[in-house]
Parts: sequence; structure tokens; C-alpha cells
Amino acid sequence: MSNGDNTQIGYSREDWESHYKNKDLRWDLNEVAPPFEHLWKKKNIRPCKTIIPGCGAGHEVIFLAKKGFNVTAVDYTDGAIKIIEKTLIDNNYSGEVLQQDFFKIDCKYNEKFDLMLEHTFFCAINPNMRQAYVETTKRLLKPGGYLVGLFYETNQEGGPPFNTSQEDIERYFCSSFKIESLDKTPYSVEQRRDKEWLAVLKKVD
Ligand SMILES: C[S@@+](CC[C@H](N)C(=O)[O-])C[C@H]1O[C@@H](n2cnc3c(N)ncnc32)[C@H](O)[C@@H]1O
Repeated sequence: MSNGDNTQIGYSREDWESHYKNKDLRWDLNEVAPPFEHLWKKKNIRPCKTIIPGCGAGHEVIFLAKKGFNVTAVDYTDGAIKIIEKTLIDNNYSGEVLQQDFFKIDCKYNEKFDLMLEHTFFCAINPNMRQAYVETTKRLLKPGGYLVGLFYETNQEGGPPFNTSQEDIERYFCSSFKIESLDKTPYSVEQRRDKEWLAVLKKVD
């Protein structure tokens, strides 16, 4: 997507779709992000109703489905949805799969989730959608629900992925979420070493 002066400001749905068509999933780790594995080992996070926006190939979906979480996976591309549906069926895991624009999720899902798991979605959207991300997350989480996320500090101009600093996270989420923890994780994969913020945010209003 271009803003008219050839400055790249983000990807359209078609742009994401063509990545899946061309099998160019350069963001995909082929496994659940290791910081989540460590967090789950450290904390007793019990199975609950969880939404994963922009789930892509769905490694986090499978990670939580295996642990007995009731997972709703959301992505708006055919490419991602086909991969995640096949993986769930092949492994005999259950999960709800929604081919849907995250920002337009039906209001029947309002306040239905205990947890939202964020991985490389906040940095994938146009930064001018960040406030809408916060509003949608607030709308979908139950009172007291959690957003657990890995936020990518690329320290680079443009995107996706768009740079996400500690200040960005604090600024966007502080009005509706209590920041329970926000740390640079030591468990990132090599190519993202020292660039990921692991956040545990609790919805407070
Ligand atoms: C960078 S990928 C990350 C995929 C996955 N979370 C991961 O970390 O491997 C971003 C994903 O978000 C999806 N996406 C982008 N904007 C979206 C939107 N508005 N609604 C739903 N999915 C969206 C894309 O189709 C893509 O699969």
C-alpha cells in the first residue's frame, strides 16, 4: 500500500495474500516463539478462552490448543486460514478459526476472551491502526482479561514490521491496561535478539 508519494505505509490484505501464495513467510519462525514457551513454564497460566489475532501459520494457536486452551484464531487471508485449518485437523486439535479482519470482529465476541496472545501482529499493521488495535482488544477481552504480547522493536524506519518501542507500548496501552510486566526478553530467536518486548497487560476498564 502506498500513501501517494511512494512511501510504504503498510500492507493491504492482497499484499499479505500474495506472501502466502508465493510461500514467502519471512516472518514465520516455524515454531512457537520461545519467549512464550518460557513464560508458560514460569507462570501457571491456566487454560482459558483465548484469541490470537493475525495468527498466520498458527504456531501459537497449536501451542495453546495442545495445552487445552479454547483458542480462536483470526487472520484475514485465505493462505493463513488454509494452513491453520489443516494443521488443526492433522493434529486432531480443536479450535475456532475466523477468516476475518481483526478490527471488524463481530460484536457477539465482545468481552468473550480471558486472554489475547499477540505475536508479530501489532508490528504488521499500519501504525495509524494502533489505537484501533487497543480499542478492539479492549472490546474483546473480559474485564480483567489479559493481553500477553511480544512486541518487535526493529529500530528501523518503515515496515512492516513497524518499529514498536517501550514508549509506544506504554503510551497506547496505559489508559485501559495495567502494565504488569514489560521486559526485553532474553529468549528471542537469534534474528530478533534484544529486539522483543514481552508484555503482560491487564485490562482495567
Ligand atoms: C507478520 S504476520 C504474523 C503471523 C503470526 N502471528 C506469526 O507471528 O507468525 C501478520 C499476519 O497478520 C495478518 N493480518 C494483517 N492485518 C490483518 C487484519 N486487519 N486482520 C486479520 N489479519 C490480519 C496477515 O494476513 C498475516 O498473516
